[in-house]
Amino acid sequence: MAVLVTGGAGYIGSHTSIELLEEGYDVVIVDNLCNSDKIVLERIKELSGKTPKFYEIDITDKEKMEVVFKENEIDSIIHFAALKAVGESVSMPMEYYSNNIGSTLVLFELMKKYNVKNFVFSSSATVYGDPETLPIVEDSSLSVTNPYGRTKLIVEDMLRDICFADKSLNVAILRYFNPIGAHKSGRIGEDPNGIPNNIMPYITKVAVGQLPYLNVFGDDYDTADGTGIRDYIHVVDLANGHVKALEKLSENPGLVTYNLGTGKGYSVLQLVNAFSKASGKEIQYKITERRPGDIAACYADPTKAEKELGWKAKYGIDEMCEDSWRWQSQNPNGYKK
Ligand code: NAD
Ligand code: UFG
Repeated sequence: MAVLVTGGAGYIGSHTSIELLEEGYDVVIVDNLCNSDKIVLERIKELSGKTPKFYEIDITDKEKMEVVFKENEIDSIIHFAALKAVGESVSMPMEYYSNNIGSTLVLFELMKKYNVKNFVFSSSATVYGDPETLPIVEDSSLSVTNPYGRTKLIVEDMLRDICFADKSLNVAILRYFNPIGAHKSGRIGEDPNGIPNNIMPYITKVAVGQLPYLNVFGDDYDTADGTGIRDYIHVVDLANGHVKALEKLSENPGLVTYNLGTGKGYSVLQLVNAFSKASGKEIQYKITERRPGDIAACYADPTKAEKELGWKAKYGIDEMCEDSWRWQSQNPNGYKK
């Protein structure tokens, strides 16, 4: 029996594939490489000592995807594949709806046809919008402000409807907070195309001299130092959360939803300081305007995942920064030669 990992060549999917292989799962990766590189597959093999089956397929192509279900005995699906750039989603909403929702519909149809019962979905803290209370618990109100976030909320709603209608399904909705860090080996990590949107890859590119300074988006938020606060979580901790979620699904829980965060918030300036300490590099920054759509603070209450999954983040901010730096300094151009 195999786990189908969609988007397994991507940042979180590659780290999760390694944890799954190390736990003894058979892994089948499907990725169209629209935001990743084939070399990741070699690195997964190098790090795990195992070769996951790989299909270079666009998941929205149902005919091609059906081959994957015919050729493998798929027991569970972890669905990472999605477009994820918030700004791009505002200018290209159709691409986001057809890719993120279209791919999920294809998977649902094939799950039904091939009797696959277990599904783990990559959701995001973005579905909490601007939270009314902190830390954020799973039953907080949900709202979104951009097409990317809306695709996550729509898929969550679809999953709730589908599970209501079919009690034999088991679904884990995992709401990630802010993943950073990289595998301890420095062989896999986050490799965004072009100028990064997210803060950690931006900081690491400043540290290697590819960008001159960090723009700190606003220092007039209602936070201790005025900069935005987020719950940064090590990508390997996040990956382990998926292994725990699969274990949970084997108990037939129906639909379950968990925050995957550390529960601790760090401001932009605290993150910059932690990174400087970990890397020995001074990070130049300039305070600029707030970025439209940003919120002041966002951090998880992760106790539900701890109680029900037996999962808790192990790594702190220092290790997150050390590991992001190891990846970037050993691979200044990411996966590109
Ligand atoms: P990523 O871009 O590194 O990985 C996604 C992978 O999916 C890429 O390898 C891409 O090539 C592939 N893909 C996209 N559309 C596809 C399609 N139609 N067919 C086949 N492959 C396709 O992103 P990531 O950071 O690893 O994110 C994984 C998931 O987690 C996404 O669903 C994302 O929305 C979600 N998420 C990410 C973050 C974050 O900050 N990284 C936060 C919350 C949620
Ligand atoms: N920031 C800067 N400068 C930058 C980039 C970011 O100051 O160049 C600040 C932001 O204002 C924010 C913090 O750093 O305060 C984190 O910003 P990111 O862009 O790294 O992350 P976000 O919290 O905005 O969003 C990310 C993903 C979303 C996801 C969300 C919750 O991009 O898709 O985490 O998981 F929904």
